[in-house]
Amino acid sequence: VRDVWLDCDPGHDDALAIILAGYDEVLNLLGVSTVAGNQVVEKVTLNALGTLTASGLSSVDVVQGQGRPLLRPPLLCPEIHGESGLEFAEGGSMQDYAIGSPVPGKAVNFMFERISAQYKKRGQPVCLVCTGALTNAALLLLVYPEVIPMIEIVLMGGCIGTGNTHAVAEFNIQTDPEAAKVVFEAGVQNLAMVPLEVTHTALATPAVMQRMMQRQTPFLQLMHKLLMFFAQTYKEVFSFEHPPLHDPLAVFFVACPSAFTVRKMRVDIETCSALSAGQTVCDMWSQSQQPINATVAMTVDVDKFWDSMIAAILKADML
Ligand code: BDR
Ligand code: CA
Repeated sequence: VRDVWLDCDPGHDDALAIILAGYDEVLNLLGVSTVAGNQVVEKVTLNALGTLTASGLSSVDVVQGQGRPLLRPPLLCPEIHGESGLEFAEGGSMQDYAIGSPVPGKAVNFMFERISAQYKKRGQPVCLVCTGALTNAALLLLVYPEVIPMIEIVLMGGCIGTGNTHAVAEFNIQTDPEAAKVVFEAGVQNLAMVPLEVTHTALATPAVMQRMMQRQTPFLQLMHKLLMFFAQTYKEVFSFEHPPLHDPLAVFFVACPSAFTVRKMRVDIETCSALSAGQTVCDMWSQSQQPINATVAMTVDVDKFWDSMIAAILKADML
């Protein structure tokens, strides 16, 4: 069983990442931290609490993290995730389910406490899964460099080629390029990046929706409304026939690494250019001769992913 900390900005696909991390049998979810990204941090924190409550995971602690990127103004994404950051088709949002409040204090302190305690207890690295901007992760590494040997990082973010919110940049990295640079250059032994090229293959097709809707329960109906909103905005903004579920793929990478093909390479983050800040410069052929710092996912077995994702959703539905 792998210990996991999830840092996220829910976000429709982040909500599914939370459910997979909370229910996959080979993962032990230690806690959730939030970061400004898809919406302002107060909203994504409510969405994290709402997701945990709605899916029967309310014993998992949530801590609110950074409200803005290290150096740049926030970039939000209401055109995909709506005003609340997690809207449903036919009205309502995940905030309607939020019960409880985040634990008090700074996220980096709480993350360090939990991660280091678990590392000492189990003697194996904790996997920090990041599905939003890397602001909290960068601060954790800067404030507590002693955490570096205690963690592995798997992040949803970046692209080898074409971006989504920019021609050559993916949203999470584009939001806070300086934080991404800190994370990629921190010397974390195992850092894996699950880029758009992979997440764009995991589409919530009608066949997937049908497999998920095994019962007409309130929770499954809620999952359906969540995915229908996401499908609608992805159609409007990107002309995608079916929406890609980016974030749970990073969690799935921890749960089932054998379902992915990967390449190890140097990845540098563009921070200087006004034209392409946030680009993940993936040096596939080692032309820079810089040391390798990342494992980049190249493909995923999409059927295996859906088997795990749907199993997690159905488990949440039983509780
Ligand atoms: C990423 O951007 C966000 O909108 C999603 O939640 C995902 O983490 C995809 O580029
Ligand atoms: Ca996200």
